[in-house]
Amino acid sequence: MSVIKVAILGFGTVGEGVYKTIQSHAEELERVLGRKVEVAAILIKNKQKKRNINEDVLITSDFNEILSLPQLDVVVEAIVGKEPTLTLLKQAIQRGSHIITANKEMFAHHGNELFELAERHKVSIGFEATVAGGIPVIQTLRQLLNVNRVHTVQGILNGTSNFILTEMREKKQSFADALSLAQKKGYAEVDPTNDVEGFDAFYKTMILSRIAFGEEPNWQDVERVGISSITSELIETAEKLGLRFKHIASINKTCSHINAAVKPVLVGKSHPFYSVEGVENAVNVHSDIVGRITLQGPGAGMFPTASAVIEDLVYVCQNQPSNKNFTITTAENNEVKKGNKIELWLIQGLSKNYHHPLITWVAQATDEAAVIQATREEIEELLIQQKATCCFPILGEYEPESKNQEETVAIL
Ligand SMILES: NC(=O)c1ccc[n+]([C@@H]2O[C@H](COP(=O)([O-])OP(=O)(O)OC[C@H]3O[C@@H](n4cnc5c(N)ncnc54)[C@H](OP(=O)(O)O)[C@@H]3O)[C@@H](O)[C@H]2O)c1
Repeated sequence: MSVIKVAILGFGTVGEGVYKTIQSHAEELERVLGRKVEVAAILIKNKQKKRNINEDVLITSDFNEILSLPQLDVVVEAIVGKEPTLTLLKQAIQRGSHIITANKEMFAHHGNELFELAERHKVSIGFEATVAGGIPVIQTLRQLLNVNRVHTVQGILNGTSNFILTEMREKKQSFADALSLAQKKGYAEVDPTNDVEGFDAFYKTMILSRIAFGEEPNWQDVERVGISSITSELIETAEKLGLRFKHIASINKTCSHINAAVKPVLVGKSHPFYSVEGVENAVNVHSDIVGRITLQGPGAGMFPTASAVIEDLVYVCQNQPSNKNFTITTAENNEVKKGNKIELWLIQGLSKNYHHPLITWVAQATDEAAVIQATREEIEELLIQQKATCCFPILGEYEPESKNQEETVAIL
C-alpha cells in the first residue's frame, strides 16, 4: 500500500503536536485516507536541541535535503515569521507538494500569492490553524456554507487578549498585572504587542474575510484598536450595567464594500460571546439560510492546533488536485450608511442632565456612565465637544439590569 509522506517545518508547540498526533491517530488517518501517513522529515533551526523523534525521520536545518526526498506529498509549516517561511512554502509547492500552514502573519500577507502558485501546480493549501486554533471555522465556511449567503462574521480571535480581559474583570486586576500573569502562563510573548494591540486578530480577520467574502478590505481602512486602554474601572462600570468587554473582530459586506474592525466592544448577557472566557476563542457566522452559528473552543495550544492541522491533512490529500479556495456567495447587507445608524453605546463623562433630542438614555451605572442610543456621528460630536470622555459600542441585544429600566433594546 502506498504511503503519504509528510515533512514538518518547525518542531515547537505546533510542530511537535502535529508529529505526536500523526502517531497517536495513525489508524484513524489510514482509515480515512486509505493510506498510511508517515513523517519523513522535520526542519528545525537549532540542531543541538534534544528532541523526541524516531530515528528513521530525517532531522535537518537544510530545507534542500527535504526537497530532495524521493517522495514528499505534504509539507506542514509551523515556524514563525514571514520569512523564510514564504520562500520554503513556494519551493514546496513548486516541487508538487500540498502545503498546510499555521502561520497567520505570513498567510495574511502572502496567502493570495501562495494560492495562485498552488493552482498552477495543482496542489492544495490547508490553513485552518491560522484562525482560532482548534475551532474548524475555515472548513465550516469553505465546505459547509457554500449555498448560504454570509452576512457577517464576528470573532474573539485572540486568546491572550480574552484572557487578560477575563482576569481584569474576575480578579479586579490592572491591565499590567493581568498581562504579566498571561506572560507567566506562557499565553503572551515577552513583547505582547501583536496580541494586545490587535495585530494578531487583524491578520486572522483578513484571512476570514477572504474565506467569507472572497476578498479583503483595504488594510488601511480597517479600524484596529487593542485592549491596552481598557482599565479595570471601565470593566467594573460595564459590569454594573450587565456588560462585558470583549475584543471582537467583525467583518461584513455592504454595497460591494467590505467593512472590518478589530476593537474592544461590549456585549450583554444574551450575546453568545458574553461567556467566552479566558484563552477561549469563538466565531459567530450570520448567513441567510441557517441564521447565526457560533463555534467556540480552544484558540491555541499544542493539540487544539494539531487538530486543525490534521484535519487539513485529510482535506488536502482528499482534494487533490482541486484547490477550491474561497466562498464567494455573500449577502449584500443593505445597511444604513455607517455613521447614521442608531447604535447602543456605553458612554462615560456625560451627565444625565445632558439633553439632546437624538440621544436616548437606556440605563445608568453612575452619574457619569450610562448606556445610550445614538448614532456614531453624534457620539463623535460628543467626544469632540468633550462632553463625553470615552465610549464603546455594544453588540447585540442589551437588557438593562434594573427593573425600572425599560425592556430589552436590540440593535443588531
Ligand atoms: N502555539 C500555538 O498555539 C499556535 C496556534 C496557532 C498558530 N500558531 C502559529 O504556528 C507557528 C508556530 O508556532 P509555535 O508556537 O509552534 O512556535 P515555536 O514553539 O516558537 O516553534 C517554532 C519552531 O520553528 C523552528 N524555526 C524557527 N525558525 C526557523 C527557521 N528559520 N528554519 C527552521 N526552523 C525554524 C524552531 O526551531 P528550533 O526548535 O530549532 O528553535 C521551532 O522548532 C507560528 O506561526 C504561530 O503563529 C501557533
